[in-house]
Amino acid sequence: MDLVLEKVNGQPAHLPVELRRCGPEDLDAMEQLQREVHAGMPHPEQFVPDTRDQLAACMADGVCVGVWDGETLGAYFTLRCMGSSPENYAAFMGLPPAEWPRWANADSVVVCAAWRGNGLQRTMARAACGWLPEGIVGLGATVSPDNAYSLRNALAEGFEIVCRRPMYGGFDRYLLRKIL
Ligand SMILES: CC(C)(COP(=O)(O)OP(=O)(O)OC[C@H]1O[C@@H](n2cnc3c(N)ncnc32)[C@H](O)[C@@H]1OP(=O)(O)O)[C@@H](O)C(=O)NCCC(=O)NCCS
Repeated sequence: MDLVLEKVNGQPAHLPVELRRCGPEDLDAMEQLQREVHAGMPHPEQFVPDTRDQLAACMADGVCVGVWDGETLGAYFTLRCMGSSPENYAAFMGLPPAEWPRWANADSVVVCAAWRGNGLQRTMARAACGWLPEGIVGLGATVSPDNAYSLRNALAEGFEIVCRRPMYGGFDRYLLRKIL
């Protein structure tokens, strides 16, 4: 999908970019972008980076989309279909185990600092949902209550807050859900 970024480094721009699914050949670029974004965050506890294995698993059982300027990756978004795993966010929502395979985890989103302000989180979320396997009825997600940008985008995309609880070994998070 062709997109145009109207803002780069906060300045008006007209940068054609491409949104497409990522595959294993893109893992190095995803890891590098994740490292850069995490290192640049004033509050890094708001984003728990994925391991390479977790990113690869998203490609295998879910959907990864990235936004590219030529060969340069500037943003990505991942969805995981975790089936009956207790790490499926559906498990934290009190849904019966039989329902879990019909829910996907909205796992992570990063946009490089220069490209922020183009609504890429929401654009990538919508595109990724279009590639979900059939039968998925809902999405779960977690967001730090202090991550105003990500939370605002999630609520604007139709997520609602289910509860607030420690996740990932003690990080304060809202658990959110969206019915598709
Ligand atoms: C959350 C995130 C993906 C949102 O990026 P985005 O889709 O480009 O954000 P938006 O287009 O909605 O930006 C809206 C406004 O907020 C600003 N903004 C977005 N993220 C910002 C950030 N992390 N710091 C400062 N300002 C930010 C944008 O510049 C824009 O400002 P403007 O309206 O004056 O132009 C991005 O901030 C990010 O990568 N954060 C680090 C990783 C993270 O927290 N991920 C979520 C947890 S998994």
